[in-house]
Amino acid sequence: MGTWIVNGQILDGENNRVAKSVFIENGRIAKIVDGEVAVKDTEGHELIDAAGQLIAPGLIDMHVHLREPGFEHKETIATGTRSAARGGFTTIACMPNTRPVIDTPETVKYVLDKAESEGIVRVLPYGCITDNQLGRELTDFAALKEAGVFAFTDDGVGVQSAQMMKDAMTKAAALGMPVVAHCEDNTLVVGAAVTEGAFARKHGLKGIPNESEAIHVGRDILLAEATGVHYHVCHVSTEQSVRLIRQAKQLGIKVTAEVCPHHLLLSDEDIPGMDANWKMNPPLRTPKDVKACIEGLEDGTIDIVVTDHAPHSEEEKAKGMEAAPFGIVGFETAFPLLYTKFVLTGQWTLQFLLDRMTVKPAEVFELDWGTLKVGAAADIVLIDLEAEKEVDPSEFLSKGRNTPFTGWKLKGWPTQTMVAGRVVWSEA
Ligand code: NCD
Ligand code: ZN
Repeated sequence: MGTWIVNGQILDGENNRVAKSVFIENGRIAKIVDGEVAVKDTEGHELIDAAGQLIAPGLIDMHVHLREPGFEHKETIATGTRSAARGGFTTIACMPNTRPVIDTPETVKYVLDKAESEGIVRVLPYGCITDNQLGRELTDFAALKEAGVFAFTDDGVGVQSAQMMKDAMTKAAALGMPVVAHCEDNTLVVGAAVTEGAFARKHGLKGIPNESEAIHVGRDILLAEATGVHYHVCHVSTEQSVRLIRQAKQLGIKVTAEVCPHHLLLSDEDIPGMDANWKMNPPLRTPKDVKACIEGLEDGTIDIVVTDHAPHSEEEKAKGMEAAPFGIVGFETAFPLLYTKFVLTGQWTLQFLLDRMTVKPAEVFELDWGTLKVGAAADIVLIDLEAEKEVDPSEFLSKGRNTPFTGWKLKGWPTQTMVAGRVVWSEA
């Protein structure tokens, strides 16, 4: 028995939607036909009515925190993957800053086993660059690769030593693996919660300078050039980083980059007060930086959109702007936010946005998913592009409620998510 998705629309050209029906068999897309399907052809198969919905490839998120093992009060692989599915994501790449961190084959196996038994979307684990993310000794890259990691990162902290980073890149390059970097120079940031800028001045706070990110980006680009590794920059937030990555790409250095919805939509001038739901790392930057990040994504300097889904408990976030941990949740608002604020305003086409959340991440990390082609895995999301709804954190499937987007009126809500042809989440 197969599954027919009928009455839906597929994007065919930048904003052009056409009526199509999709047939799924053995977890793969078997057929895509124009218009409707005769009732007799659907007999004996499961039917999914996608009336009024866009049929899109399942979204891919290459930067997420699932918190397991060790921080199950913030999120688990079970809740995190449900939150991802509700956001339309079918493949997510989880960061290794758990407890213990993912720096051994055993912890990789733990995450993969949990994802298999309790997760509902595809989970790709990152492995740490350094033991315990302490920046002192490299992990065993070959063993981690063998255990199933697809790239290395110490996300959560920057790799402080240039020599350590160079050694990491040399080893990763030899294994054909990417190095993915949280860029932050700790000699420039000591205990600040927000960016240097209007908000910090107004509240008499220390600010995190743009250079703390960009200095690592610049350093690492030079090291990537020297080692030939595929170097990927996490959550780009500053004008200077965009400039450096643009130049590196022009020079043919193998660098790619990601940006988060919040760094495209919010600046430090939007922060309403000392509310930790507006605190994340990197912080919301100035309007000039926001503009540079948007331009960077638009001209291809920045390749993909990621959420940096970073759930924390309400108690932790209630500690206030200065004491609360960094991070906001992202899965369940990412697509509607960008669709409403960039596509419906006419700045981007729907194809532009979808590409940056599907085919581009697949291209950057050489993944098999993110496309609706015949023969591809049937990782599919149905999206209602018309209905408007407010962001209501009490509806989140994530354990985290920490978002600055509460109450935003948005369109573009996923209604049903399928992984390998199996419905893993549906609205009703
Ligand atoms: C992340 C976290 O909470 O683990 N926080 C954040 O604000 N982004 C760490 C990170 O991605 O750097
Ligand atoms: Zn990070």
